Amino acid sequence: MEILHVSAECYPVAKVGGLADVAGALPKYLNRAGAVARLIMPYYNNKFIKKHDWETVFEGNFPLGTLSYQYRILKEKNGTLGFDLFVTEIPGLLEEELPYGYSNDLERHIGFQIAVVDWLSHAEHQYDVIHCHDHHTGLIPFMMNYCYSYDMLSKIPTVFTIHNGQYQGYFLKEQQHLIPHYDNWKQGLLEWNNTINPMAAAIKCCWKFTTVSPNYLNELRNDAFTLESLIVSEKDKSTGILNGIDADIWNPETDSWIEKTYNSAGVTKGKTKNKKALLKEFHLQSGLKKPLVIFIGRLVAEKGGDVLAESIRQSVSELKGNISFLVLGSGVKQYETDLKVLRELLPENFNCYIGYNEKLAHLMYAGADFLLMPSRMEPCGLNQLYALHYGTVPIVRSTGGLIDTVLDLEEEGFGIRFTSTSFPDISLALKRAEALFINEDKIKKIKKQIMNIDHSWEQVTGEYMDLYSSLKKDV
Ligand code: GLC
Repeated sequence: MEILHVSAECYPVAKVGGLADVAGALPKYLNRAGAVARLIMPYYNNKFIKKHDWETVFEGNFPLGTLSYQYRILKEKNGTLGFDLFVTEIPGLLEEELPYGYSNDLERHIGFQIAVVDWLSHAEHQYDVIHCHDHHTGLIPFMMNYCYSYDMLSKIPTVFTIHNGQYQGYFLKEQQHLIPHYDNWKQGLLEWNNTINPMAAAIKCCWKFTTVSPNYLNELRNDAFTLESLIVSEKDKSTGILNGIDADIWNPETDSWIEKTYNSAGVTKGKTKNKKALLKEFHLQSGLKKPLVIFIGRLVAEKGGDVLAESIRQSVSELKGNISFLVLGSGVKQYETDLKVLRELLPENFNCYIGYNEKLAHLMYAGADFLLMPSRMEPCGLNQLYALHYGTVPIVRSTGGLIDTVLDLEEEGFGIRFTSTSFPDISLALKRAEALFINEDKIKKIKKQIMNIDHSWEQVTGEYMDLYSSLKKDV
């Protein structure tokens, strides 16, 4: 079984969000499960790509609207990631450092997708499955079926995974000339609400689509940012498969980025050492005996970034200073400013690191007592899974994959769930956290228990393998 994953992000090559973590792990674990899985992504002008050795495995060219581009497919020479990694080098088009945020993002995304299908159309052997992730790769199933230059690929099964249904990549019909020539009768497959919508096109044209948790699929049937009727009409092609975590990277027993490694038997001692180091790093030494709550992630409304500063302020006041908070993340400038202002107001109880710091994130999971995720939307959520594995109790809003993975204490579970991303709900949840923290025996038991929940990719790859095998039979 040979599978090619196609993704705009892949950790540690280029990461913006959870998509990168999944793309960097799933192929590796599929390989360990006996498949041959590879991944192709765009070339980025970044450190990882410059520091590693590459060999050219293919050279070609393609038209993009009225322009023509040369491209090279480069393969990473040393198999650093545990699977074959390819990048599409397209001089003059893929010149930037980051995956997104440039005025020509549309051309960059379409050019990348054309380079992938063009390469596949010239390849000597064919893959059993092409697995595309999120809208940046959503036109590939259409191109493989209906673009004249590539329709010889139509027999190859395609899988499309929705990591985030909110971002659909739609663009004006005036731009459709960027897509290679296709059978005009099929125009409707590209459209949704009178625009070209790569996510909708992927759902219509792929053989199967998945979401990153079962509950998120249910939610999308009711609200998918206008795609709900499509998700319902194509429901026979859909499955929800929960993400896993990469225990090669996220494992408190071996993690070289934390102060002291530990396992579930030594969780209390281990976490205390890490908490000390973490509080020192953030100049909050007085917080050792108080519950320490962290937030890690993008500071956007989708993740509850807008309510963060005020929730922290209210909670510190309600609990009379008997709680501390640390935030790591970046995003909307206003939310960043709110947090910086709060840091001045509450120097004894709060600090933040505005930016991205993978190493610090590890120490935070290891040293914290609780992780707060007030997400308005969370297709799967990986942070709660990392937290569980590090013995950090999740406090989450009941949505998406958070419902699949965090059971509330009141339902004989191990976490704290709340209904809405609002101050009263968050503040009540934090009070419950403080009450749990004071109950030393109980929190100790819970920390042990959650460290032993298995969210490894090994658990999950079987579901993907079954999905791929079901497609193989149809060929
Ligand atoms: C997106 C989603 C997140 C999910 C991740 C990986 O970033 O927002 O919930 O865990 O993709 O699938």
